[in-house]
Amino acid sequence: DAVERGEYRHYMLKEIFEQPRAVADTLEGRIASDRILPNIFGVKSDELLRRVRHVQIVACGTSYHAGMVARYWLEGLAGIPCSIEVASEYRYRQAVVPADSLFLAISQSGETADTLAALREGRQHGYLGSFAICNVPESSLVRESDLVLMTRAGPEIGVASTKAFTTQLAALALLVLELARMNGLAEERYLRLVNDLSTLPRRIADALELAPQIAELAERFVHKHHALFLGRGVNFPVALEGALKLKEISYIHAEGYPAGELKHGPLALVDEDMPVIAVAPNNQLLEKLKSNLEEVRARGGELFVIADDEVRIDSDGVRGALIKVNSGGNLIAPAVFTVPLQLLAYHVAVLRGTDVDQPRNLAKSVTVE
Ligand code: G6P
Repeated sequence: DAVERGEYRHYMLKEIFEQPRAVADTLEGRIASDRILPNIFGVKSDELLRRVRHVQIVACGTSYHAGMVARYWLEGLAGIPCSIEVASEYRYRQAVVPADSLFLAISQSGETADTLAALREGRQHGYLGSFAICNVPESSLVRESDLVLMTRAGPEIGVASTKAFTTQLAALALLVLELARMNGLAEERYLRLVNDLSTLPRRIADALELAPQIAELAERFVHKHHALFLGRGVNFPVALEGALKLKEISYIHAEGYPAGELKHGPLALVDEDMPVIAVAPNNQLLEKLKSNLEEVRARGGELFVIADDEVRIDSDGVRGALIKVNSGGNLIAPAVFTVPLQLLAYHVAVLRGTDVDQPRNLAKSVTVE
């Protein structure tokens, strides 16, 4: 075990640092000259993907958060309506399936009982076909799906998923960009976005350099009982993922919220004991986010902002910290912003002395209901 962990104290930390490699492997042989190569989704995939007019995403846990990001991309770039649901809900519901809908299952293990049950249930409901994004080639999910795109994260041992998430985002971006191209995304924009995607391993490597800074910040969370994570748009799922990581391994109660909902509830909880962590990308929602942050500041909340390095935020007089990272543009920003949040959860858990790789009550793969 110690041999496999190498220089790292925990598998989770090793896996966080493996992300540049894992994402590069996931993109390897799938992009050339700023284009997605043909047939990477399997032979005959073209014919099926061209007919897609709706996508139903189903997943659990961290994989569900990856799917939530993909929904923003699918509708924003490919103009394809997309629904997403956790598998345990989808499987027991009389879902109405729109015409020409693709069933998209996302799972690291490919053995999650609810996700498999949803796939099997979906088969009865007239989907065009099923598409799996998965990390385990010999899994049930891969065997039972029509089309497959493997993430190449390698074995993930830590129960809290890290490299599986960022490789899922890379794989989902490939699928979305292909669907977007088929549905008329302007050539120039397509080329630029594929290029942005190819820079993801480098951007993640840059974000990992924040580790010492984040380790220091983690000390300010050790005695907290609650934390609130905020994001907007495509970075809202990043807030959910940041909160999930923190609660899974440090046992601090954490919630992820779309920043615009702050005033509809969570603001009532904000005081000097409730740290607020916000993701601030450089996009059209920045100004809105800033006013949400102002609301937190006015209530004496401690504010930790992870911002794109081009974002200008006045941090004078703010309790908390401003952490800057080159997020590499709107497409890959969710994957890049996730990295400091993973590091934060990790370091807080280490300081609290929890079992980071094997958190209490949780399993790596939930193969029974
Ligand atoms: C468990 C794991 C999570 C994972 C989820 C879905 O809850 O602890 O890390 O995200 O299952 O697993 P899957 O293998 O389907 O992605």
